[in-house]
Amino acid sequence: MSIAILTSGGDCAGMNPAIKQFVDYCLAQNVEPYLIYDGLEGIIDGTIQKAGYADVSGIMHLGGTILRSSRSKRFFEYAYRKQAYENLQKHGIDKLVILGGDGSFRALNRFYQDFGVRFIGIPATIDNDIFATEYCLGVDTALNIIRNATDAIRDTSSSFKRASVIETMGRECGYLALISAIVSGTEVCVIPEVECDFDALALKLRSQLKQGRKYIMCIVAEGTKMTHQVVEWLEHEIGIETRATVLGHVQRGGNPTVFDRLMATKFVEHAVDNLLDETTKGGLVVVYQNSKCEFVTIEYVNSNSYKLEEELLIMAKDMMH
Ligand code: F6P
Repeated sequence: MSIAILTSGGDCAGMNPAIKQFVDYCLAQNVEPYLIYDGLEGIIDGTIQKAGYADVSGIMHLGGTILRSSRSKRFFEYAYRKQAYENLQKHGIDKLVILGGDGSFRALNRFYQDFGVRFIGIPATIDNDIFATEYCLGVDTALNIIRNATDAIRDTSSSFKRASVIETMGRECGYLALISAIVSGTEVCVIPEVECDFDALALKLRSQLKQGRKYIMCIVAEGTKMTHQVVEWLEHEIGIETRATVLGHVQRGGNPTVFDRLMATKFVEHAVDNLLDETTKGGLVVVYQNSKCEFVTIEYVNSNSYKLEEELLIMAKDMMH
């Protein structure tokens, strides 16, 4: 039996540990592992290679993905999916493990419907925005990178009695910003899911400045598109010199944390075990719920959008109102 792995969409720390564990685990189960380079584009173009231990040794600590990634438009066209199927057939591959987000899972589900190629999706995105899973690979590493950056920015902010605005990634989801604001104890947190009361925040911050507050830390999720507005508000409404830092792609790279390496191992072993079970069918996603890996259908993952936990929103309410 042959199973191939690929990485798709935005990369994240934890992908390389998952690739290594996939190859090692397949070989231990007498399954032939294959690597597909360049995401879904690679299935179309046939950049597929049989893997051995040597191909994946020394990558546990590396960020990014040695398989590279892509956001494929071509895969949504039948003719390219047919070409992709023919490429898999050449290698005798009839099962896939894909690390990525729900868009990539949807694309492979079309492929399954066309040609019956079973697959398991592993949620891997720093955005943590996939419905039905409490955790997506890469999130812990991204949060630690944001924490380090916030700690460093706080140092210089306090030296100059300034306000600092830090923009985090996450697309439409405020998870990275919310957790980062809570664990860094910032004064302001702006996320797409909650409307901030800037008048109430201004009253509070002005009074704190009068009482001796020396600096202000704000975390803004990119999905709000409000970074510039928050800087203007701090400068003109609160009257404090302000600097902004857009963290950007630094959040997507870096040495994977212990938690991401462990989660990579759990996700991959569950995925391969499921594919080896001939009684299951179709495309499934391995999700993390109540500290356990479970399987759900692609339809279920796409049936709703990810919601931030109410408990976390309550913890951060003073940073928004
Ligand atoms: O989905 C992951 C993510 O990093 C988002 O947080 C961000 O908006 C986007 O990808 C950036 O994409 P790109 O790498 O194509 O600029």
